[in-house]
Amino acid sequence: MESHDKNTTHRLPETHRRIILFPLPFQGHINPMFQLANILHIQGFKITIIHTQYNSPNHSSYPQFRFRAIEDRFSEVDHLRSTNRDPSYFIKYLNRSCEDPFKGCLIELLDEEPVACLIADAMFYFTQAVADELKLPRMVLRTSSLGCAIGYGAIPFSSKEGRFNLMKQGMVFVSTKLKAGSWWLKAESWKLLAVADPGYEAFVPEYPLLKGKDMLKIAINPEGYGDLVTNMLKQMKASCGLIWNTFKELEEPELETINQDFRVPSFTLGPFHKYFPASSSSLINQDRNIISWLDTQPPKCVIYTSFGSVARIKDVEFQEVAYALENTSSPFLWVVRPGMVLGSEWVESLPEKFLERVGDRGRIVKWCPQQEVLAHPATGCFWTHSGWNSTLESICEGVPMICSPCFADQPIVARYVNDVWKIGILLDDGFDRVGIGMAIKRITMDKEGEEMRTRISHLKEKANLSLDDGGSSNRSLKSLVDYISSF
Ligand code: UDX
Repeated sequence: MESHDKNTTHRLPETHRRIILFPLPFQGHINPMFQLANILHIQGFKITIIHTQYNSPNHSSYPQFRFRAIEDRFSEVDHLRSTNRDPSYFIKYLNRSCEDPFKGCLIELLDEEPVACLIADAMFYFTQAVADELKLPRMVLRTSSLGCAIGYGAIPFSSKEGRFNLMKQGMVFVSTKLKAGSWWLKAESWKLLAVADPGYEAFVPEYPLLKGKDMLKIAINPEGYGDLVTNMLKQMKASCGLIWNTFKELEEPELETINQDFRVPSFTLGPFHKYFPASSSSLINQDRNIISWLDTQPPKCVIYTSFGSVARIKDVEFQEVAYALENTSSPFLWVVRPGMVLGSEWVESLPEKFLERVGDRGRIVKWCPQQEVLAHPATGCFWTHSGWNSTLESICEGVPMICSPCFADQPIVARYVNDVWKIGILLDDGFDRVGIGMAIKRITMDKEGEEMRTRISHLKEKANLSLDDGGSSNRSLKSLVDYISSF
């Protein structure tokens, strides 16, 4: 895996002021925020990270940064995550519970020394009001794609005419009838009803990249997610500027739209992980033994399967994944995060004798060094949940994807992979072993798969060029440094 040493080896003189960063405490948000912190530190800024106690980073991995922990009261709701699969509930909770401790911490830090600006995760929308009150410029890091921000702006999360609302009414109706107690049951009933809705297969008029069934995946609780997205977009527009982990050549038309819609400067300096490896901000121990197993596999053969750090699947879905991997003749590496399968600690619900049958052809690990796995010559295809970090990491290594999006931005990212960039296959109906088997064949054996590989290799080249001196991301970084220095 190459990294762009030009940007990283020579630290600029420390002539700049301090920047305070505030990541959302989930792996897919922590990784890009810490990568950004490193990028800005190399440019000469002093860095302080304010973080929640929940998913606290390992301070000793970053002797170059200062850290301040704040009380988050997340333990009061964390136990609900076994029954409540609605991420918007937890993110909105954090927006309320962190407000006072964050403000107190910021006041103390501002008393200590001058601060150039705050950079907060876009989903911590409450920080705009705090920054305004303290007269501190606030910039935003949005950890997903430009296309996702446009999609979120267009989706009728709560309009009366919106398909979402129809489905929500169906959910309320069914859940009232069943007196379903948990969000999960309600959502399951809702989905059953929605499959029979003619809108399920139809394109969404307000955002025709998506079908009704994609919308169902975006939010388990459309109204709640709609609130979250509305607040996030509103406070992004109120900020001093937006930092994106993407590169111009990947999303050029989207960048134009964002510049028109948001009216604050946007800086596209990604892919961040090409400046530094992400391993140091991993919250889970990465199993490195897997690299020596990959070394024994033929080139471009291994199906790497991982659904990120948040998605949780039902045991029937887990078994479909297992059968699909067993049925293919390819070697596979499968990341099963502890707690990923609902109702299981780890891999208890694997089909009987699965491990004996697949033998050394397949490996299951709890967590791995994903960027290295994707960069390994043996890796031929990435079966992913289409989280934005995973998608960018796959593009940067030229590995085509099979997409099983679970929620939030993932269905939008998966449509881009399948329909716009044509560098992977979206599994329309989730985890079904026949569909997965066909997708694996199309990618690993058919001409179509070769064409995807060619297209993704071109994107990989463009990503590398964007980081070179004078490339689009390199220029964007320089503009960002000038911009922050002007505060
Ligand atoms: C979440 C959302 O789900 C995602 O859609 C959003 O874009 C960011 O926040 P997550 O689900 O964790 O993120 O997915 P993703 O964005 O792909 O991030 C996962 C990160 O964990 C990647 O940087 C990946 O390299 C890392 N990872 C994953 C590992 O280091 N080891 C693994 O075994 C699996």
